[in-house]
Amino acid sequence: MKLSRVAAVGALAAVALYSITLQSSADNASTESHQPPSLDQSLRELAGRNDLRIGTAVDFDALTSDAPYRERIASEFNSITAENVMKWQLVEPTRGQLDFAAADQLVEFAKRNGQKVRGHTLLWHNQLPVWLTDGVAAGTITPAELRGILRQHVIDEVSHFRGQIYQWDVVNEVIDDNANLRDTIWLRNLGPGYIADVFRWARQADPRVKLYLNDYNVEGLNAKSDAYYNLAKDLLRQRVPLDGFGAQGHYGVQFGFHSSAEVRANLKRFEDLGLETSLTEVDVRMLMPTDNPKLQAQAQGYSVLLQACLLSKRCTSFTVWGFTDKYSWVPGFFEGEGAACLLDENLAAKPAYEELRAVLALAARR
Ligand code: G3I
Repeated sequence: MKLSRVAAVGALAAVALYSITLQSSADNASTESHQPPSLDQSLRELAGRNDLRIGTAVDFDALTSDAPYRERIASEFNSITAENVMKWQLVEPTRGQLDFAAADQLVEFAKRNGQKVRGHTLLWHNQLPVWLTDGVAAGTITPAELRGILRQHVIDEVSHFRGQIYQWDVVNEVIDDNANLRDTIWLRNLGPGYIADVFRWARQADPRVKLYLNDYNVEGLNAKSDAYYNLAKDLLRQRVPLDGFGAQGHYGVQFGFHSSAEVRANLKRFEDLGLETSLTEVDVRMLMPTDNPKLQAQAQGYSVLLQACLLSKRCTSFTVWGFTDKYSWVPGFFEGEGAACLLDENLAAKPAYEELRAVLALAARR
């Protein structure tokens, strides 16, 4: 921020200059502004006043082809996550041939727009390269070889983006809905120690990036979040380099929501272990068609998660899993459901968008 320049000009001009500076470097707005937060400001301007990274998942094809989509990402968010292009299937479709072209473009876009990048994701059971899953199924990739392949993948990808990513979802969805370690090719072939290994390899490749556990249905206090709490404690006891806990935040209007107090209590117990926390994939779907009560319930779903984050001492980022219904993953995965994002298919704001601005503006007055 150019405060000295602001001080040098007259009061009226100072206000005008300030508002321009705010738009170009919104993230540091909090400490230097004496202006009250305004509901006309973007999410990133208001988040900047709360020291919060507010992010969105980015659909790479839309990023390259849809200018209004691109502009909205730049104006509304100070953090972005690749929705797909950093996943293993996309970065190594052919064994041994790494392709970071799309992910690199996304990182460049973030740099140009003063945004940080969340890395998603190093280890998952979905979107794995076919050569890998076929090789394991056929027995041509042995467990010992699989461990070496995983190590190489983690080191290659984290090294490639070293210094350019602020948080990595290191392992994604490794606990199932019954609160047990998920039955995947990783657990079956490598045993439960693979989780600690992946964190250690990631730390080796980038000493500074924050390394996260990440999952869905772990926003509130329940058996699954308990299992994560125990896993986190266990990893920390083994001196595994774990820095953060990410709750994805995929909600549905028809299921109801937690209270912000419950989500905060859950985040707090992880923070009390010394971890930072983040909401990493927030969206609130509904049974179609939309109507006002559903849209208002949706706003409440977004609101409790943002409030919980703002009420938590070490909740560093709040990311929505796409910001427009135009490109949301939801209709393709849940038949009859949709409208999960802050903006509709024409990029018009829904009540949820206004609600997030109001919550951020209120928090900024503290
Ligand atoms: O890229 C291919 C394209 O070549 C092909 O023509 C087309 C045909 O279906 O598929 C395209 O791949 C799709 C890919 O997204 C890219 O658009 C896959 O089919 C589709 O399954 C994939 O879905 C992604 C999903 O993860 C995979 O499970 C979603 O976009 C993505 O939003 C979703 O994200 C996950 C997070 O990573 C983890 N948490 C849950 C979240 C929602 O499921």
